[in-house]
Amino acid sequence: MTLKPDPTRFLSNLHELRQFGAAGVGKGVVRPAYSEADIAARAWLAAKFEDAGLKVHYDPMGSLFGLAEGPSILLGSHSDSQPEGGWLDGALGVIAALEVACAAREAGGPAVSVVSFQDEEGRFGVTTGSTVWSGQLGLEKADKLTDRDGISLAEARSTMAHLAGDFVDPAQFTGFIEMHIEQGPWLDQAGEAAGVVTDIVGIRDMRITFEGEQNHAGTTPMHLRRDAFQALGAFNALIAERFQNVVTPQTVWTIGHVKLHPDAHSIVPGTATFSMQWRDGDGDRLRRMEEIIRATAHEVAEARGLALSFGPMLGLEPVAMDAKLRTALEASAENCAPGSWRKMPSGALHDATNLAQYLPVAMLFVPSINGISHAFEEDTNEADLVKGLEVLAGAVARLS
Ligand code: GLV
Ligand code: MN
Ligand code: MN
Repeated sequence: MTLKPDPTRFLSNLHELRQFGAAGVGKGVVRPAYSEADIAARAWLAAKFEDAGLKVHYDPMGSLFGLAEGPSILLGSHSDSQPEGGWLDGALGVIAALEVACAAREAGGPAVSVVSFQDEEGRFGVTTGSTVWSGQLGLEKADKLTDRDGISLAEARSTMAHLAGDFVDPAQFTGFIEMHIEQGPWLDQAGEAAGVVTDIVGIRDMRITFEGEQNHAGTTPMHLRRDAFQALGAFNALIAERFQNVVTPQTVWTIGHVKLHPDAHSIVPGTATFSMQWRDGDGDRLRRMEEIIRATAHEVAEARGLALSFGPMLGLEPVAMDAKLRTALEASAENCAPGSWRKMPSGALHDATNLAQYLPVAMLFVPSINGISHAFEEDTNEADLVKGLEVLAGAVARLS
């Protein structure tokens, strides 16, 4: 069985999808989950799924499926973006899946279903749409999650409620393969065409709030201040020091969002709410880092006379890819790009992590120019996108 995906149709669809929320320099995109651009992009995708002979289905989270009849392999990724993102993060995996489904239909088989998960980028949680589908987070609990502006998932989800059917039964799928950009520097630096993922790191993510005393920035003596931002600064320096005995060069942690109240030049900030996220391939290390984070926050708050609160703790465990699916990707990579691919872990998070609860899963990476992603500048050479598509199609053909 050979599948012949059409590179022109594939690239044209990718560029067309980018028009929904196109923004910023280069090929930037602003298409957060449940935004107008996101919902319009899903409607466009749904029409494409229908043209490909797939049955369109939205689940209660707004994840969009194009379902083949009978047992099928599921391919896809997500079409929502970060608050500032690129045109390929997620979109590539969805459009490549659509193209392989079209090629499979034109070849008279195998059955290929396609998915675009909702809120992979974590406006509300961490890979929220697939986390809820996988049963690791109940819908009722998820509905209470809020974005950085205080809007709840329940509220955001209601904008798509008229489209929603039931959750899809995963028993109809034989496995899940997600193609994605690497989002890191390794393939680009080595001049290699593809990466077959061995495993995906685990993640922890929560909000922390220091609450001190809002006061005048000119008249409040330094020793009387209970400044929430100064507490955040001290906390940040202390955890970096204390992590030294626990982390490896692969461990990462990020404070990416900070909200000060009332956020003004001449006011000592009364509250600082910030995101605290950390990732590693070892679940025990993630737990030890959590202990340091919680203990340090308590210590800083106590020393400075501040109140402290933690938001819900979100997270996913590290996950290994399925051997059979991986072997199909590896054989296809060697066929399409002999000697120019590698096995590698994923430091980014993906919906595949959640699907591993139900199905054998695997992932394929293509290079990211200069390793840039979660930024408008994210890009990949079109020749590499097409090569990745060929590897994916080859793997699906091998598995059938
Ligand atoms: C997903 O985009 C991630 O944050 O890794
Ligand atoms: Mn992604
Ligand atoms: Mn992303």
